[in-house]
Amino acid sequence: MKKGKFIVFEGIDGSGKTTQARMLAEYLESVGRRVVLTAEPTSLPSGRALREALSGKVKKSECQMAVMFVDDRIAHNICESEGIRALIDGGVDVICDRYYYSTLAYQGQSTDYEWVKSMNLRCPEIQHPDVCIYIDILPEQSLERIAKGRDSVEIYENMETLTKVREQFLSVIHDLENEENICIIDGYREQNQVFEDVCKSVRQIL
Ligand code: TYD
Repeated sequence: MKKGKFIVFEGIDGSGKTTQARMLAEYLESVGRRVVLTAEPTSLPSGRALREALSGKVKKSECQMAVMFVDDRIAHNICESEGIRALIDGGVDVICDRYYYSTLAYQGQSTDYEWVKSMNLRCPEIQHPDVCIYIDILPEQSLERIAKGRDSVEIYENMETLTKVREQFLSVIHDLENEENICIIDGYREQNQVFEDVCKSVRQIL
């Protein structure tokens, strides 16, 4: 059986990746593909523990956060029924809202980048995506969108962290340019314009 494709969306908070991931899932289904839209942190027990830490309710160190994200990612990959690996092997396309590039950007800038990189990229139970679509916006645009759309704010959603994380995302993309397929898309535009570029990036792997 032909394997499904593994597509990841990345970007800082408020970049619009969740909307674009949804639009892509609908589009791929409309052309007859089987698609599962998923996200990290997951809704598994490991992902629920992360949500508690992200809300600030439970305190965790940045190294603990890095390990928790890796643990959640492994569970996401190897889960028997709806795991990424099982779905792709079964011919289903998996679209994931955030993946290891986020850990490299968020925890990579607050701990040790090489340690975080090797835990993720060298782990035999973590699949590498066919394409990663990075939706780029500036930190001030991110905060403007977060302020409009939500009442609660997570621990990383402030100007200082978002600025560091965006810079780190761009440096991660540069670091991985020879080993991973990553497309950068300008996210501060009308959503259909952004989506046109998303489709262009995905067509090259279908
Ligand atoms: P996010 O995609 O923003 O979820 P939601 O839209 O439901 O709030 O992810 C939550 C936060 O988790 C976000 O601030 C980024 C952070 N994060 C990391 O720090 N490392 C990771 O590996 C992942 C997957 C997320």
